[in-house]
Amino acid sequence: MIVGSQPSVDNRRADRKALVEVLNGAQPWRRPVWFMRQAGRYLPEYQEVRKKAGSFLELCDAPDLACEVTLQPLRRFDLDAAIVFADILLVPRALGCDLSFREGEGPVLSRVMSVADVERLRRDGMVERLGAVYETVGRVKAALPAQVALIGFCGAPWTVASYMIEGGTSSDRALARRAAYERQPWFDELIELLTETACDHLARQIEAGADAVQIFDSWAGDLDDGSRQRYCEEPIRRIVEGLGARGLKAPVIGFARGIGAAHRQFVEATGIAAVSVEWSVPVGWMAGELAAIVPVQGNLDPLAVAIGGPALRRGIEQLVGTMPADRHIFNFGHGVRPDTPPAHVAETLQHIRALDGT
Ligand code: CP3
Repeated sequence: MIVGSQPSVDNRRADRKALVEVLNGAQPWRRPVWFMRQAGRYLPEYQEVRKKAGSFLELCDAPDLACEVTLQPLRRFDLDAAIVFADILLVPRALGCDLSFREGEGPVLSRVMSVADVERLRRDGMVERLGAVYETVGRVKAALPAQVALIGFCGAPWTVASYMIEGGTSSDRALARRAAYERQPWFDELIELLTETACDHLARQIEAGADAVQIFDSWAGDLDDGSRQRYCEEPIRRIVEGLGARGLKAPVIGFARGIGAAHRQFVEATGIAAVSVEWSVPVGWMAGELAAIVPVQGNLDPLAVAIGGPALRRGIEQLVGTMPADRHIFNFGHGVRPDTPPAHVAETLQHIRALDGT
């Protein structure tokens, strides 16, 4: 028999996107795997392109280079998805906030803390100012093999608002939480604006070719029960509903980091297609309680990946052994750390595939 004369099983499956299959509640041809921050500083080839671009923001603004760094992890690892290279803070910048990234310090933004500050934000022309992101989505889409899904994303209104109010990263988000607890009218207006702009931004990414989108509410765990309902669940529910009302069918993955036992309520209140969870969420509970209502993404500790060895293998084996492959998107509980050896990421993929026999 001539080797290759018959289409192999893998070739037959090669035009199926396992990630999209799980998100649609179908039986995937294998357990889908991708990693938050899979493109980035832990890859030497990323460092090179970033140097060429000049800075992180210039890299985001150059679709040819942003496309290149989006594809870099896919050249190394057998992943089921690419996530467009961009940042959640490009939206406040497009609304008129000054944004810069200082080496070792993270983002610095001009602050929003009054009615006048919110009124100065310019929604008109916002999507045009984000044009580089949609162009990157289109370029990546054209370059991807059929079995790799493309994920678009945005920050959730609460998380983006917290960066705008704090003027960058802060230890406890006390200024933003204060505005939320006081139900400041300007804060409600800011959340309203960020809800509408998140919906516009995701819609454009889907129209440009994103197969699915993820909403990052990285600081959702800051909010108490009542404020979480109002500023995390309700805005995300409206974004999901808004995309549906525009006839856009791409599934939405929600990531409300740090909300613990509220994950079920988060899923039911928002109508998201899948939920992404951080590493402190018990794997047995993910498989039982959560996977019963929605596919679950997560939740290996990225530190275990940086460490490697038995800690990494134990984490992988627990997840693969507990989570059913048709209700699970293998991912980390948060982004890849810059101190992660790329060989550990390769080993993670190999170990998952070997355990699953895929
Ligand atoms: O590969 C990918 O996941 C896609 C790209 C992506 C980036 N940021 C690129 C990036 C995604 C999905 C994000 C999301 C993002 N950005 C979040 C939500 C997820 C999370 O981490 O909780 C948040 C809160 C941000 C805001 C942000 N961007 C911060 C606080 C920082 C500085 C801290 C850090 O990790 O460097 C960034 C910078 C950033 N965004 C980098 C990358 C690759 C590092 C830039 C560099 O130094 O080259």
